Amino acid sequence: MNLSYSSLVATFLVTLGSQSQAFQPTPFLGKNVQIGSQAVNVSRSTKAASLSMVTSGPLKCRVIGVGSAAPKTVITNVDLEDVVETSDEWISSRTGISQRRVLLHNEEAGGESIKTLAADAASRALEMSKVAPEDIDLVIVATSSPDDMFGDATSVAASLGCVNSVAFDLTAACSGFLFGSVTAGQFLDNNGNTYNNAIVVGADALSRWIDWDDRNSCILFGDGAGAAVYSVTGEDDSKVGILGSSLHSNGLGYEKLKCGYKGSPRTVATPGDGTILSEGSYERLNMDGKEVYKFATREVPTVINEALDAADMSIEDVDWLLLHQANIRIMETVAKRLGLPKEKIITNLSQYGNTSAASIPLALDEAVRSGQVKEGDVIACAGFGAGLSWGSAIMKWG
Ligand code: UT7
Repeated sequence: MNLSYSSLVATFLVTLGSQSQAFQPTPFLGKNVQIGSQAVNVSRSTKAASLSMVTSGPLKCRVIGVGSAAPKTVITNVDLEDVVETSDEWISSRTGISQRRVLLHNEEAGGESIKTLAADAASRALEMSKVAPEDIDLVIVATSSPDDMFGDATSVAASLGCVNSVAFDLTAACSGFLFGSVTAGQFLDNNGNTYNNAIVVGADALSRWIDWDDRNSCILFGDGAGAAVYSVTGEDDSKVGILGSSLHSNGLGYEKLKCGYKGSPRTVATPGDGTILSEGSYERLNMDGKEVYKFATREVPTVINEALDAADMSIEDVDWLLLHQANIRIMETVAKRLGLPKEKIITNLSQYGNTSAASIPLALDEAVRSGQVKEGDVIACAGFGAGLSWGSAIMKWG
């Protein structure tokens, strides 16, 4: 892949806080690193709250279609009163969630799965974009809960008829759609005629991995999918679509939200006493809600300002704030810190709960189709979650 990132302005920051003392910093620290034609400065910053960060200016691609899909089955807050010690009043007032959609087990699901939701969302986005499936060059499915551990993107691409595309999954939890969109944007921006059209899907079914005895987390999550089609048209592409972005990750915060591997012993009858291998499954989702809440309200305003800087724009240019749909209180706090009125928040959280990688495109799709977002509107998007990972993209619709 050609790495001449024409618009790349990158700075890698390393936290020097007590938490990170044991971390071995990159050998490139303090040096200029050549990426294609760009000299990228890798610097140490005592002020940095994150381990690493990359910002990028306008990417030459438009966002020309969106779509979404959610499972049929609804679980309301009142339903959850029978599951854990909670109340509709507590969940609504502390999170803004009223109900969530969930995938059922096997035959009960009536054929619904992560793959079918992802394909339905992508198919609606394709229809809006008017791009033929065979003209799609790249399919990225951002998910942490694929139907198949080896990835769902190839099956999704096949079911859409994207026969001329390369397809792969991307795991960045609730930041997945945002990271996937910037990744696709880099492909489109940097590869001229090789990659002209891309579909990015965010799809998750965290209901499969929740601890339904843990009232701190089981009330939050729902399942769904959302998708966007990005395209190079050759006409003023850098004035619409992704105008600026900033992505961060910090593995030192990994413990705050995780769903780790869990093995059970499996003896394989090799000569002698055999070999005890590990038979795989995963733990239930484990989250330190308070810490994730603090992390989100601290980092999201900063990352949005970084993306605005990269786009050479200011908060006054923003028509809509579209955050990962995790908690309405997070969205309102971030809006307040950015000086944006609540009316500029795009949210459908009350109907779907936190759908992880799906939440941003699902809300964007509904906002575009309802006419809330109009051609030329600037949307400050931000995702955040496990990893820890977080990022922002400033998008101009149309
Ligand atoms: O996509 C990943 C990103 N994840 C997030 O963004 C999650 C961020 N965190 C949050 O949204 C919030 O921290 C939660 C919604 C998870 C929790 O809300 P909170 O306002 O931070 O509640 P808390 O943890 O401070 O708990 C307050 C009280 C506690 O009781 P005590 O100790 O004060 O007696 C909890 O045990 O509320 C209790 N509580 C509940 N009560 C009724 C916690 N969960 C529930 C519940 N129903 N479901």
